Amino acid sequence: MDRELQCSLMRRSLAHLATGATDLATGIHRQPVSTWTSPEQARREWDMLFSRYPLLMGMGCQIPRAGDFFTEERCGVPILVVRGEDGVVRAFRNACRHRGARVAEGQGCRNRFVCPYHGWAYAADGRLVGVPDKVSFGPIDQASHGLIALPCEERHGMIWVSVTPRQDGATALDVAGHLGPLDAELAGYRMADHHHFETRVIQRKMNWKMVIDTFLEPYHFAVLHRTTVAPLLVPNMCLFEPIGMHLREVLPRRSLETQKDLPEADWDFFKHHTLVYVLFPNTVFVCQTGHIETWRVFPIPGKVDECVMYLDFYTPDPVETEKARLHWERNLDLTIRTVDEEDFPASEGMLRNFLAGAPQEAVFGRNEPALAHFERTITERLAL
Ligand code: FES
Ligand SMILES: [Fe+2]
Repeated sequence: MDRELQCSLMRRSLAHLATGATDLATGIHRQPVSTWTSPEQARREWDMLFSRYPLLMGMGCQIPRAGDFFTEERCGVPILVVRGEDGVVRAFRNACRHRGARVAEGQGCRNRFVCPYHGWAYAADGRLVGVPDKVSFGPIDQASHGLIALPCEERHGMIWVSVTPRQDGATALDVAGHLGPLDAELAGYRMADHHHFETRVIQRKMNWKMVIDTFLEPYHFAVLHRTTVAPLLVPNMCLFEPIGMHLREVLPRRSLETQKDLPEADWDFFKHHTLVYVLFPNTVFVCQTGHIETWRVFPIPGKVDECVMYLDFYTPDPVETEKARLHWERNLDLTIRTVDEEDFPASEGMLRNFLAGAPQEAVFGRNEPALAHFERTITERLAL
């Protein structure tokens, strides 16, 4: 984010702080609860969102060396993401071309992926390089039996994959086009220079979109987070910017107060704000207190009321000392505790009520513009 944008956001933020105001939507928004309860909508979300859009699968710093890989299957299909000898990150269906067994499990580093069933071997770029007992197997064109490649791009240190293979086998993915103006802003976070600290996996009885909703308004801070977040962040105050399908939300920290009498040149924007982005459709990207965290949420197929999320935590420097490890561990624990003990139980309760038929709509206030933008965008995209 360039300095000019930081200063303009800071000016708006300080103005809100002086008057107790917040960014407002033009009106109240009413969202039918079928958004979170409809099995038909859930099916369409798989078909029209998760199967079509580039999804953030992780960061390049998680697989820095040639042969480093991870597997994933929460995105609807089993996939394998691997860095090749040439340094390029590629994604494949994690399925052997002989009879479909998985060629890799978990994560690790290797230069050959040997299928555990009959031993077909694939290079890190997906080529089929070995077929045991080839003579008795019969003629097989190895060149056309590589792993099925998926569109994939490592961009600004972030790994994006589209889980639907193209008919023509093309693997180019237009992440810049998907992100639009957000592309340049994300580049500024320099994820390629970050270090993966830890990933936690959390499964809850919530509709997946509710995990994202959780991050989209500070209206609840003073009540639900009275003793956890409210002492740190200013309740009911945010700057909101729709960025195409995505959005940016800037949440002033209470320490912003210390900046109000300083000259602009001395402002420290990032120190005194938490930044929340929705990378449509399923990722929340958060920058606060010197680290980056992403919340990547996936529905459980066939269920409207269950989801699994990854909290990936990245630090600007490698965590090499016990002191540093304890610092970030505490930071991570506080983050988890707040959402897991306060936000998610509230969301699970909401969903139970929605499924029980009352209320039939949720009302988003003018002070919850990001929430309205996210849910409205989902509705619009599903209607296309
Ligand atoms: S299924 Fe992979 S070698 Fe047979
Ligand atoms: Fe919250």
